[in-house]
Amino acid sequence: MEKTSSLQFVPAKTGSIRAGEMFTSRLGVLTATLGSAVGLGNIWRFPYLTGSNGGAAFLIVYLICTLLVGIQIMVGEQMLGRAGQGNAIAALRRLAPGKAWWLFGAAGVLSAFLIMGFYSEVAGWVFAYIIKSISGTILSTDPQVTTTAFTSLIADPMKSLFLQWIVLAVTGAILLLGVAKGIERTTKTLMPVLLALLVMVGIRSLTLPGAMQGLTFLFKPDFSAITPATFLTALGLSFFKLSVGMGCMLTYGSYFRADQNIPVTATRVTLADLMVSLLAGIAIFPAVFAFGFKPESGPSLLFITIPAVFASMPLGNIFMVLFFVLTAIASIGAMLSLLEVIVTFFNQQLGLNRKLSVVLTAAGLAIFGSAAALSNSTLANVKLFGLTFFDLYDYLSSNVLMPLGGLLLAIFVGWVWGYPNIRKALSNDETLKNDRIIAVFYGLIKFVTPALIVIVFLNQLHLL
Ligand code: PHE
Repeated sequence: MEKTSSLQFVPAKTGSIRAGEMFTSRLGVLTATLGSAVGLGNIWRFPYLTGSNGGAAFLIVYLICTLLVGIQIMVGEQMLGRAGQGNAIAALRRLAPGKAWWLFGAAGVLSAFLIMGFYSEVAGWVFAYIIKSISGTILSTDPQVTTTAFTSLIADPMKSLFLQWIVLAVTGAILLLGVAKGIERTTKTLMPVLLALLVMVGIRSLTLPGAMQGLTFLFKPDFSAITPATFLTALGLSFFKLSVGMGCMLTYGSYFRADQNIPVTATRVTLADLMVSLLAGIAIFPAVFAFGFKPESGPSLLFITIPAVFASMPLGNIFMVLFFVLTAIASIGAMLSLLEVIVTFFNQQLGLNRKLSVVLTAAGLAIFGSAAALSNSTLANVKLFGLTFFDLYDYLSSNVLMPLGGLLLAIFVGWVWGYPNIRKALSNDETLKNDRIIAVFYGLIKFVTPALIVIVFLNQLHLL
């Protein structure tokens, strides 16, 4: 049975811990991990959540969650993946035989389904916007026009399904063809272009009359905007954005080389991810205020505001095409890592070959995701717990499963796996002199990370 991964593999070099699936270089690790982290979470979700949760105050809460929880879980996952050599289920079975910790991996597969269910739809909107920006139909500074363009798109059930399935077919085909190397290389070259474009849009946005209000909103905190729900949303966002709490980073960790410095890698990825989000915020908020949009408009923020910004700049139509193409590419990098979690489950747990695993994953997602795709049309009135399928998938993954997964993982690392193992794993068998960093990580993941997650949960349930 073929057990390869879509990621970049070469036969192990000397010094690596096993033969087979590995990233080729430290840079490869960085770009693949960053490719998973940077996606719609940065360009679509971060701005709209910041917008609807009070701006700067939310940003601060988000930063705290990222520092005390997000990075720590990322380090923990990558460490366990490399030590346990397999996806989350296989690795945890190996590291804790006979115990139920592998359930973290099982919950992760469910999270991957839930996230992909709505993520593939949003990616579909981005694909549609590439076409729309080429044809110029959304190039208008009139909020009314861009709003109508978006609402009529999402209210069309056939288009919604079609777009989602195209996205799934494209992502599945990339995995099937095994050209992830190509994708990785493309992402590596295009990521700087995405950054450059974000900077350009940011400058345009900042130089619009009335831009200051947007900057104030993003950077001057008004703490009265914070509620218990804000904490859960910010915590969920930091899990979502860093791709942690569901086994994705653990699976990637299993492809890491023995000499990869995990704490440094995780910190770099987190900082880069944060930078992309802030750039997106700077590109969007000044324009939101300048054009009289509302920052709290929710998931549609990107799709109604960005076109208006482009419409007001010279050569805006070309930049808009580029912007949505690059957003699509960023989303594909993230989706490949999400699919990887499900594919390795079929492949490593159920023993199916890789091709069949990919086909089953894409087909399963097409069915599961269609409920989210139809959430603004046919199924708009079908609600569970007061939420449409789109919102339910989103809420369950980011606000329930991923934080719970993170809690389990932190407890496992800090209280079960323990200091000697952690020290050995993070110092690369004593070859790195990073005792202090390890001590800080150990203290945080054992006490602070789990405590913060529990407090946020209790607080949300009004038990605190
Ligand atoms: N981090 C990705 C983004 O920001 C989404 C993602 C979540 C990817 C979980 C993998 C796992 O778009």
